[in-house]
Amino acid sequence: MQKLKAAIVGATGMAGQQFVQALSHHPWFEVTVMVSSRSAPDYRRALLEPDGASRWTQSAEVPDDMEAVPVVQSDAFDPKSVDVIFTAVESDVARELEPRFAATTPTFSTASAFRQEPDTPLMIPGVNHHHAELIRVQQRRRGWQGFVVPIPNCTVTGLAITLKPLADAFGLSRVLMVSMQAVSGAGRSPGVRTLDSLDNILPYIPKEEEKVRAELGKILGRVEGETVRPASIPINAICTRAAVLDGHTEAVFAGLERPATVEAVKAALREYRPFAGPALPSAPAEWIHVFEDPFRPQVRRDRDLGDGMTTSVGRVEPEPVLGGVKYVLVSHNTKMGAGKGAVLLAEALLSQGVFGS
Ligand SMILES: NC(=O)c1ccc[n+]([C@@H]2O[C@H](COP(=O)([O-])OP(=O)(O)OC[C@H]3O[C@@H](n4cnc5c(N)ncnc54)[C@H](OP(=O)(O)O)[C@@H]3O)[C@@H](O)[C@H]2O)c1
Repeated sequence: MQKLKAAIVGATGMAGQQFVQALSHHPWFEVTVMVSSRSAPDYRRALLEPDGASRWTQSAEVPDDMEAVPVVQSDAFDPKSVDVIFTAVESDVARELEPRFAATTPTFSTASAFRQEPDTPLMIPGVNHHHAELIRVQQRRRGWQGFVVPIPNCTVTGLAITLKPLADAFGLSRVLMVSMQAVSGAGRSPGVRTLDSLDNILPYIPKEEEKVRAELGKILGRVEGETVRPASIPINAICTRAAVLDGHTEAVFAGLERPATVEAVKAALREYRPFAGPALPSAPAEWIHVFEDPFRPQVRRDRDLGDGMTTSVGRVEPEPVLGGVKYVLVSHNTKMGAGKGAVLLAEALLSQGVFGS
């Protein structure tokens, strides 16, 4: 099949760099242009700060097929020049740019701008792909030929991936979660100040807990008519920032509607295989890895499992207060939780024929 032409918007940022890696030598997509607040002849030069330092933060070098991609400002970018757009910009910028892109072109977004729009699905590949039917509603209501589909806040991703098989097998009565989130989750702008975060845990992340409640409810909800009816599960969270570079750790307490042994819960997590049919290029071989060792998962050791696309779980134990189970998870916030997760979503919707045909 001929590759679809793709654009990355915000490619110099934390999530944007993950798009760059996830789309490098991709079998289905070819990045032909990038969009930034500053134009540059190529991506390598767009990464340079005024003092000459590169903003590239990944351990692997800038991929060879991305170095020479031209970088233009949004005014000079024609969304019709590509088949698909991946955006990784702050929400205020997304609110301005994404409707213009979506008018003509399928747009996959890491930003929160559209997450709570009633006609817009909020999607995690493999967790709620049936919500994709809302895309036609969005197109009809807004007169768009393309669409915009956001992925959730990176704190919600591992939580939803692990709760989905439990909801399906046993039902969920209530959920509590405490997160210890990586500094890369705050991006570069505004980011987290080094002096505040080093040797520390910050007990509050503005607006994060509201997002966990609202987004998890929507993802686990059902499409009814022309919108999603959120799941009626009481959810609460405390979100903290830890001195970790990448990878969110979350302690989860899940009340279950039907009694389940710890072994049955582990089996439901291990057997979770959301996609039937041919493998998608960015999908992990193993969606959820369950450790028996009570000292795992550890964020530093386990965040890169399945190239950052596998959610790691450990400490699965009975939870008598809520009547269910408790566990600890680790999820890579900029891979499954951002760039590569959004690419996987695009692969899933392309293979379902939602766009590209
Ligand atoms: N970091 C994560 O773990 C994570 C996870 C999930 C979702 N997200 C979401 O992803 C989005 C980006 O987050 P981030 O952490 O990557 O932030 P970031 O590191 O601050 O990057 C933001 C990018 O936006 C670009 N930008 C700013 N104004 C622009 C404009 N007018 N046109 C085009 N590009 C523009 C900037 O590039 P220039 O300076 O080159 O213009 C910058 O590269 C946010 O909405 C965030 O909530 C982040």
